Amino acid sequence: MHIQTLAYRPADGPVDEAAERYGRDPAAVVEILRELQQERGRLTGALIQEVARALRLPAARVHGIATFYSMLAGEAPPTRTIRICDGPACILRGAGPLLGKLPTRPDQNWTITRTSCLGLCDLAPAALVRDEQVGPVTLDRIDSSIGRWCGEVSDYRQPRPGETRVLLPDPGAAGFEDGARSALVPQARAGWAWQNVLAHTPEAVLAEVEASGLRGRGGAGFPAGRKWRLVAQELRTPKYVVANADESEPLSFKDRVLLDLRPDLVLQGMAIAAYAVGAAAGYVYIRGEYAAQAERLGAAIDQARRDGNLGRRIAGTEFSFDVHVHRGAGAYICGEETALLESLEGRRGEPRLRPPFPTSSGYRGQPTAICNVETFAAVPQILARGAAWYRSIGDVQTPGTKLYTVLGDVVRPGLFEAPYGITLRQIIEDFGGGLRPGSTFRFALTGGAAGALAPPSLLDVPIDYESAAEGVCLGSGGFLICDQSVSPVKILRELLHFFEMESCGKCTPCRIGTREACRILDRFVAGAGTAQDLERLAGLARLLQTTSLCGLGASAAKPIQSALTHFRECFA
Ligand SMILES: Cc1cc2nc3c(=O)[nH]c(=O)nc-3n(C[C@H](O)[C@H](O)[C@H](O)COP(=O)(O)O)c2cc1C
Ligand code: SF4
Ligand code: FES
Repeated sequence: MHIQTLAYRPADGPVDEAAERYGRDPAAVVEILRELQQERGRLTGALIQEVARALRLPAARVHGIATFYSMLAGEAPPTRTIRICDGPACILRGAGPLLGKLPTRPDQNWTITRTSCLGLCDLAPAALVRDEQVGPVTLDRIDSSIGRWCGEVSDYRQPRPGETRVLLPDPGAAGFEDGARSALVPQARAGWAWQNVLAHTPEAVLAEVEASGLRGRGGAGFPAGRKWRLVAQELRTPKYVVANADESEPLSFKDRVLLDLRPDLVLQGMAIAAYAVGAAAGYVYIRGEYAAQAERLGAAIDQARRDGNLGRRIAGTEFSFDVHVHRGAGAYICGEETALLESLEGRRGEPRLRPPFPTSSGYRGQPTAICNVETFAAVPQILARGAAWYRSIGDVQTPGTKLYTVLGDVVRPGLFEAPYGITLRQIIEDFGGGLRPGSTFRFALTGGAAGALAPPSLLDVPIDYESAAEGVCLGSGGFLICDQSVSPVKILRELLHFFEMESCGKCTPCRIGTREACRILDRFVAGAGTAQDLERLAGLARLLQTTSLCGLGASAAKPIQSALTHFRECFA
């Protein structure tokens, strides 16, 4: 056997320099690949080999990573790529014809591709031009965006009538530096109030969060206090806190708005969680498409460090905690908590088998509290104003407020904050400004792509995590309102296209099942579906629900089953 001893080589080129900057940590492979792609234009085979050498990883593994993430896999330089969203809100606002015209576009210097929901649904049809978030796009505006057009800005500083605001800024809050996209810097600096938290024991902080009834905002509504307690009870250290800012669920852009307006609240919530469970480090895993929000978060972290709110021996106590931002690179599945952990550790974002759960074996195999950005953002107010105050807001079963998005055929699409338990009718009439003139309600896609199609008979169901049993899903809070002109079958086809594209491919039912279901729906949209197709579709939904390895495959079954229950006559 020939054994080759590799002598240590100092940094001698851009690849080594990039690797050195990350301490040659294999977990940083995605970030290193992205940096090099940005510098060199694209990731060639030779560059991948170089990265593998610099990180002492097998080249096959680095190649596997580079081809997994959509923002790395492209053939064209990202600096000359326009990605147009083909998600349901954008399709409803005209992305379809736009995408259809793309191949005939004469401009050879720019590559235009389609992509899954960009989290810019309020700017539909939306696009990423280089790293810039722009919308609503038209063919003319694509030309301008290459030049100077920066897209429109949705301003959520002012509440809509009827909103209850806990997370979003109060009207007239001071501190915006340069318009809607800047953070509330002065308020963020004043608001940490560490003394109030550190005056209590970690157990007392934990008990307060448990008493508040705070539930996870990532979609499933798991009690946050219970999750933190599981981590606190673990004896192994180090422990970690992770904020899930992957937000790739079609129709959801609430975390983007929170990170735009209140990055300080998210950081404070993470720091309080760390104190309660005994963690010394935290990560925000943010989707790659949110470059502006990652930058804003980085600035808020720097500010907090300068003010002594993050770092070693906070407020003169023994407690130390710091936060790092980790950018994803384009993969919906990385929102699933175990896929997120794989990605954070520098691998393809493929879900792990559970148990063990992240609370006992999470980041680097250590106890980890992973919560959604919005979940963490609720914590500082709970600590400041008390669990009883929080419980007094909204639903008994699910207290507090939630960020909702209302999109589609309403007068004022966008985002608002309200308690749990509101109905679809309230979402449309009170917060969406009513249906657009000439529109009649036909159905709503509730709870995002992983949710259900709800017919008019469900307009008055109070919505929370339990209402899925009645046919209206909450999920991460996204609602697409569709009028008489929208076909439930076409929307369903778009959803299955999304699941097919985003399936990680690790398990067969999801890899093949989403593709098969999409082909069947193609036939129905073309008017060529058969009774056998309908039976096969129902069977595939059962298969996806019962045999998929993770929630993505199981989620794909939900919109199919709701469409078959309420709109079977539309499959003709
Ligand atoms: C396919 C899939 C995608 C998900 N995407 C997200 C996401 O983007 N953000 C998120 O917070 N949770 C997402 N989740 C849920 C996470 O797995 C996890 O439950 C959540 O981050 C826990 O936070 P919470 O308790 O605050 O809700 C996703 C789950 C699945 C199955
Ligand atoms: S269900 Fe889909 S996304 Fe989840 S592990 Fe299987 S193939 Fe991957
Ligand atoms: S940005 Fe297009 S559907 Fe969300």
